[in-house]
Amino acid sequence: MTATETFQLQITAAEFYEQKFVPAIFAEWAPLLIQAAGISPGQSVLDVGCGTGIVARHAANRLAGTGVVVGVDLNDAMLAVARRIRPDIDWRKGDAGALPFPAREFDAVLCQMALMFFPDRVGALREMARVARDGGTVAAVVPGRLADQPAYGPFMDVAARHAGDQALALLNTYWSCGDIGELQWLFHAAGLDVVSASSHMGTARHASVEAFVRTEVEGSPLIDRITPRQYASIREDAEEVLRPFTSADGSVAAPLQGHIITATKK
Ligand SMILES: C[S@@+](CC[C@H](N)C(=O)[O-])C[C@H]1O[C@@H](n2cnc3c(N)ncnc32)[C@H](O)[C@@H]1O
Repeated sequence: MTATETFQLQITAAEFYEQKFVPAIFAEWAPLLIQAAGISPGQSVLDVGCGTGIVARHAANRLAGTGVVVGVDLNDAMLAVARRIRPDIDWRKGDAGALPFPAREFDAVLCQMALMFFPDRVGALREMARVARDGGTVAAVVPGRLADQPAYGPFMDVAARHAGDQALALLNTYWSCGDIGELQWLFHAAGLDVVSASSHMGTARHASVEAFVRTEVEGSPLIDRITPRQYASIREDAEEVLRPFTSADGSVAAPLQGHIITATKK
């Protein structure tokens, strides 16, 4: 993977990401991650690669005014949206590879759908372990392997066929932490004890195939990497490959497999 595949967005795409991507996909995973990590009132929680902050918001709701929630991300646009929605949460700019926090600051460190974008994943997990207290939790969600994605597999084939190499590099990154065995190895290599590793079949829900494709393109860095013609071709071919997941009313329910890993800092 190249170090440039870090899912960086401009403000329009970050707003679109929050409006479309988050409710369609990421909102389903945040409560699962919070539950798996055992987040409870009074804790201090860090959300790494927080994006527009869906995990941090769920954590804050769970803490209900007790404890502390901090979200950290590399991207100014994502953080601007996060701040607009929840000004009461502490949003910080920072790199997962060098987290801007002292050692043992947090009871739990969470990372949703972001680990695959970090150029040094073991290094980032080591950083998460460093800022977790002894006996604290580090937990992550990542998408499963592309081979295990019945809807995204064919859709990615369509996108790969029409998009250029630059777009392809981004699309391949999404699925690059998908091997659950390798994922556990990354945690071990970072000095963490894996407590649980499970796979879950979620559902990406969109009003139409058009909405599915718009979300994937306009809520991601893909928007800057394809021509209008490539975009139109992807839209056209997506109708066919997503038909098995399209209802009579035109809405799409696309299965999306992901893995949830929880670990303890020794
Ligand atoms: C697909 S988004 C996921 C955001 C959020 N966790 C969610 O569930 O909606 C991936 C996020 O990782 C962030 N990111 C990528 N590389 C990073 C790094 N090295 N350090 C911190 N954040 C990073 C991106 O800016 C982006 O906000």
